[in-house]
Amino acid sequence: MHQNKTPFNFIRLLKFLFVLSPIIFFGIYLQVQHKINDLELIIYFVVAVLPLVASIRYFLHKLAVLDRQTILQIHDNKATKENQLLLTKIMEKLSDPLLILDSTNRVLMANKSAHDLLGKQILKQNISVFIRNSAFDSALLRAHDTEVPVSCEFKFGTPITRHYLTRMHLFSMDSDQNRKSKQYMFLALYDVSAIKRADIMRADFVANASHELRTPLASILGFVETLQGPARDDNDAHERFLAIMHDEASRMSRLIEDLLSLSRIERDLHVPPSDKINLSHLIRSVINVLEPQAREKNMTITFSSGLQKDIIGDHDQLTQVFQNLIENAIKYGSRNTEIRVAYVKNILSPQAGTKDITITITNEGPGIAPEHLPRLMERFYRVDSARSRSLGGTGLGLAIVKHIVQRHKGRIFFESELNSTTKVTVSLPLEQ
Ligand SMILES: Nc1ncnc2c1ncn2[C@@H]1O[C@H](COP(=O)(O)OP(=O)(O)OP(=O)(O)O)[C@@H](O)[C@H]1O
Ligand SMILES: [Mg+2]
Repeated sequence: MHQNKTPFNFIRLLKFLFVLSPIIFFGIYLQVQHKINDLELIIYFVVAVLPLVASIRYFLHKLAVLDRQTILQIHDNKATKENQLLLTKIMEKLSDPLLILDSTNRVLMANKSAHDLLGKQILKQNISVFIRNSAFDSALLRAHDTEVPVSCEFKFGTPITRHYLTRMHLFSMDSDQNRKSKQYMFLALYDVSAIKRADIMRADFVANASHELRTPLASILGFVETLQGPARDDNDAHERFLAIMHDEASRMSRLIEDLLSLSRIERDLHVPPSDKINLSHLIRSVINVLEPQAREKNMTITFSSGLQKDIIGDHDQLTQVFQNLIENAIKYGSRNTEIRVAYVKNILSPQAGTKDITITITNEGPGIAPEHLPRLMERFYRVDSARSRSLGGTGLGLAIVKHIVQRHKGRIFFESELNSTTKVTVSLPLEQ
């Protein structure tokens, strides 16, 4: 251990002599007055001064030690306070809820996110009062028995339930007074709702895609068996069944094309498009392609253009967008009605200074009930599945449209009135 020696100091010596001066002067006075001889003076110094010097030295030494200790203590306290402040600041800045519990699970420290999530009254309260979940409780119990961090997932919150992952770390610290070690629990909460949602969506997507493929496949297999068996010699049935099998096989092929198209668009979602596009020409050519289909339902498609400026986009993908939207208007619109495709002027985008090009597609028909509107662009979501399937739909059209519009940094939304009109608005930024 490092010994802290007091260095020689002339001022200290003078101070020392000053303290001793009355005794020294008294001895000298006695000698000058011939009250004592030289020998007696020496004895006087030995008897009176030396023990005094020794005790003063001892006293000063004690003082110095005390002094050092006080300084150290002040210094230590300051460092601890600074560390505490630093720790609190870091905890406060982190966006995940963080808590420190004592050995009885009472909350000792909590950052702002923890307060926001669990309430302002959590301090000094048992955490289980605020997180009422059996999985969480048993994880906490396990965490007290092990030095290894314990994790657990649990659902929490009303009215919106969210998924949380918690990590609990047990740690101990020596307490200052009695050197007895105390145990604490560090608890971090992570909101994993988005990951959970993505997991569920992925699982749903695989289940839906398999189902969509299995249905036509089962139908084709059924017809093949019938043709090989009971309808082997029935020529009429041959023709009918082959036509159905052709339709089903085409639907499967469309579905696979749509799935591949969706995955390609998702892959390129963050690659900005680079084609220079005259949107008027593009929409006009889509209408030309779809006009025969509209005529079958005695529908007319009108297009009021007036659109001069070019936009930067992906030609094939934007063709896909308008093809799908206008095709939907034909498929789900009523016979003998008009479909209006219009360019809407001067709609400013939320980003100041940039202008959008806004196109609306309006059709007359049964419309879409409000509860379906928010889910319309989900993969495989249909308002009327049987109707969509009978019209050859895969239910992926609007999901593809949504992703393409996202890639173009645009917006799309539906408005509909039952038994009246359905209007789709697509806005694309003029400058990417
Ligand atoms: N203009 C519209 N009027 C009424 N309902 C619509 C309209 N557009 C879309 N829908 C509804 O939204 C659903 C989803 O449309 P989406 O384009 O994604 O699929 P689809 O048309 O059934 O199949 P696909 O486009 O893949 O061939 C449709 O099944 C339909 O119920
Ligand atoms: Mg469609």
